[in-house]
Amino acid sequence: MNHPASHSQSFTVTTPLYYVNDVPHIGHAYTTMAADSIARWHRLNGRDVLLITGTDEHGQKIERTAIAAGVNPQVHCDRIVAKFDSLWSKLDIKYDRFIRTTAPAHRTIVNEFFQRVWDSGDIYKGTQQGWYCVACEEFKEERDLLADKHCPLHPSKQVEWRDESNYFFRLSKYQQQLEALYAERPDFILPNSRRNEVLKFVAQGLQDFSISRVNVDWGIPLPTDPDQTIYVWFDALLGYVTALLDPDAQVSLDNALHSRWPIDLHLIGKDILRFHAVYWPAMLMSAKLPLPERVFAHGYFTKDGKKISKSEGNAIDPIALVDCYGAEPLRYYFLKEIEFGQDGDFNETRFIEIVNADLANSLGNLVNRTLGMAKKYCQGYIPNCNATDIAADNPLKILGRDLGAQVDIAYNNLAFRDACEAILNLVRSSNKYIDDLAPWALFKQDKHLELAQVLYSVLESARLSAYLLSPIVPKISTDIYRQLGLNIDFDLICCNNSNDDNTASVENWKHHQQWGILQANSQLGEPQPIFTKLEVKTAPSS
Ligand code: MSP
Repeated sequence: MNHPASHSQSFTVTTPLYYVNDVPHIGHAYTTMAADSIARWHRLNGRDVLLITGTDEHGQKIERTAIAAGVNPQVHCDRIVAKFDSLWSKLDIKYDRFIRTTAPAHRTIVNEFFQRVWDSGDIYKGTQQGWYCVACEEFKEERDLLADKHCPLHPSKQVEWRDESNYFFRLSKYQQQLEALYAERPDFILPNSRRNEVLKFVAQGLQDFSISRVNVDWGIPLPTDPDQTIYVWFDALLGYVTALLDPDAQVSLDNALHSRWPIDLHLIGKDILRFHAVYWPAMLMSAKLPLPERVFAHGYFTKDGKKISKSEGNAIDPIALVDCYGAEPLRYYFLKEIEFGQDGDFNETRFIEIVNADLANSLGNLVNRTLGMAKKYCQGYIPNCNATDIAADNPLKILGRDLGAQVDIAYNNLAFRDACEAILNLVRSSNKYIDDLAPWALFKQDKHLELAQVLYSVLESARLSAYLLSPIVPKISTDIYRQLGLNIDFDLICCNNSNDDNTASVENWKHHQQWGILQANSQLGEPQPIFTKLEVKTAPSS
């Protein structure tokens, strides 16, 4: 995929706006870690990035949860939002906008958008009959239900019969335009397997869907009929637009759309693909607005090979997990181990094996032994040599020469696993290079020139690896940089609003993607372990 936005100066990415019926779960953390990493990569490349996340707070599911808890829905939402915010901070997620669909500005945006769709003649009153899953907030086809009218996505929940008078959106009118969109822009839905799913669904023929509800008070009143509220999905998708409003801007659809629309990338899970790849573009077509560049749907993961479900008691509590193991091992595991776009699995033992092998044994060991040798043989300085002094056939120079470009492609394709593998290849090759070239022997033999070149090559390879991994493990990367005598905080680079000198002058760190940045004779920092091996602690299930 050749991302159009990867060459322009701004990049806007969204996570789904998460339901607040319950505390955050690992699926929420997964999408958000991926979004944060891709946002960080674009920021490192000097782009003006906006990472949007937030919460989807209206609808029957939330209304019922609040009633069951005996609290006002807004109070309930506020409590859960605080949990999301705290999780994002623990996971080192640097979002730029957090949109709540209960924000007053959002209501204005929804009303204005509704009016545009209304003016297009795409809203009419009709009767909705069918099976409704409150957990999905979606009508289901009878043929898709499990035994006893249970929802396939929520097997513990029964669907409910609805027969009500609702307002409908003329989705069917957009059948041909949508098909033309998918044909003209094959990258609009990724990965390809998901695109095929959508094509198949649309080919069956699109039906209009209801965009209002009676008997649901917890929602935005329908502008044309205050006895009804707007369907939660119609409302929530527009959260992406409201999020674009600058905090001090006057609230209007035009102002929201003014500078950053259309969004470059909607990151979602496969369960909500239809809403983003069919309903959303049709709504935008109706409102005569440009469409997002891309919708990327990742897979689902299981725990120890089993479907994750609260009722099965095997839910993974991301807060307990991050408290137990820290953010960076989790970020690394989920992005390196599960191919983004495919289904995957979380297994605690494997998680520990992977992070210990890659972050402690491979990367940590490389940094530690290299700095130890530089201290011993070069008095704690980068040896007196530069990249140009290193022979063109040096294996690390060869690997390092193309790595930045390779990793750039991988990140732009959201192929986090490929990015990690390519970087780890340089790390492992560097360790092998040390073993093969034995700097300690070169020192004993007084081969100072060769020794300097070997040490420079491995120090530089450790630096490049840290830089390229920084979107995923920013603190480890910062630590490695500090030990190499480079005072760059990757977290600060990634705060658009930071006033720190370190970042104020930063426009573009792209040249750090090249092999050969370290300066001869500059002072190194103190060697310290960058990653302490983890032990299985068995984070509690929620
Ligand atoms: N509120 C809607 C989104 C509206 S966007 C305008 C919603 N919210 S959600 O809270 O249910 O979050 C859904 C997200 O969590 C999806 O992206 C989904 O893929 C992710 N996950 C939920 N369970 C998951 C797994 N077991 N594995 C991976 N991700 C999963 O839908």
